[in-house]
Amino acid sequence: MTKKYKCDYMDSGINFERNGIYVCCKTAHKGKGWLLLSDSYENLDWDKIFELKKNWQKQIASGNPPEKCIGCSEIVETDELVEDMSLYYVDVNSFCTCNSKCLYCDCWHFDSFKETSLYPAFLKLFEKKLLKHDKYGYIQFAGGEPALMIDFEKIVDLCIQNGIERYIVNSNGIKYSKGIEKLLINTKTNLCVSLDSGCAETYEKIKNVPCFDKVINNLKKYINTQNKDKSCIWSKYIIIPGVNDNEEELKKWFNLSLNIGIRSIALDIEREWFKNHNRQILPEHENMINIIQIACRENNIKFEFYESLKCFYGIR
Ligand SMILES: C[S@@+](CC[C@H](N)C(=O)[O-])C[C@H]1O[C@@H](n2cnc3c(N)ncnc32)[C@H](O)[C@@H]1O
Ligand code: SF4
Ligand code: SF4
Repeated sequence: MTKKYKCDYMDSGINFERNGIYVCCKTAHKGKGWLLLSDSYENLDWDKIFELKKNWQKQIASGNPPEKCIGCSEIVETDELVEDMSLYYVDVNSFCTCNSKCLYCDCWHFDSFKETSLYPAFLKLFEKKLLKHDKYGYIQFAGGEPALMIDFEKIVDLCIQNGIERYIVNSNGIKYSKGIEKLLINTKTNLCVSLDSGCAETYEKIKNVPCFDKVINNLKKYINTQNKDKSCIWSKYIIIPGVNDNEEELKKWFNLSLNIGIRSIALDIEREWFKNHNRQILPEHENMINIIQIACRENNIKFEFYESLKCFYGIR
């Protein structure tokens, strides 16, 4: 029997970016991804978009994937092809407005960017029954700051009404958002707030805004209002070599996070540094990570390391 192949993102994924719509956000493989579905949000033709995906799906199935998919680790063998190509894996990166100025991020440099509301696109997808809940699916908000995204709360309401249960929200926590609150109460949401520091001084060195106390207060509010059986709030620390890669700061952050009620911890390494250092972390970083991992085990805290890097660089 001839072998068949599939990619879950080609079957069921979509990535809303600032300059258009793509299939996925994987870029670390040989073909470098970015399969364009539409270069504009004006007059979207969903039939054409799904036709494009269907054709690429067939190419992947035959073992001769589109050039941009070559070398991608998401392509796996399969027995049968998915017929219903409704969307389950939705990445929302279509906005860059932000109230922080993190030294590791370029979002806040694009202050002249004119954001388009995604509400009409979501509405159309639900009307056409092309966006559905799936037990492994998600809607992920990253982009700039979701709490400032145009129509964020309206989109959240619409997705909840249409039965979407799983979300990932990356927020800086500076502005308390009713939309995020609704997700934490009504759905299975992972909210991830990158604090990167255990005190206001280090926070301000990294974020360049005086908002440490505000973020801690908002985190406490989210923790108190969430449905703890369904949702989960993560405190994240991006290790930025030369800035916050010291054990004292990391322990301060860890203790503070636990003191305010956080039960899930994520560590990461600043991406550009990682890329420029042969995708290797230093032994002293490994040592710090081990200390936090052991403390998490002792305190029954969920621990993740590397998750966004894995996603970004396609590490499995
Ligand atoms: C671009 S942000 C947007 C969402 C939101 N404003 C926030 O800060 O969480 C999405 C995620 O990427 C992470 N991130 C941004 N730049 C990074 C970098 N250079 N290295 C590692 N993680 C980074 C952020 O911490 C955040 O968790
Ligand atoms: S094969 Fe890789 S690059 Fe191609 S659609 Fe799937 S995840 Fe994206
Ligand atoms: S808060 Fe998020 S979007 Fe804003 S500058 Fe920082 S990482 Fe970028």
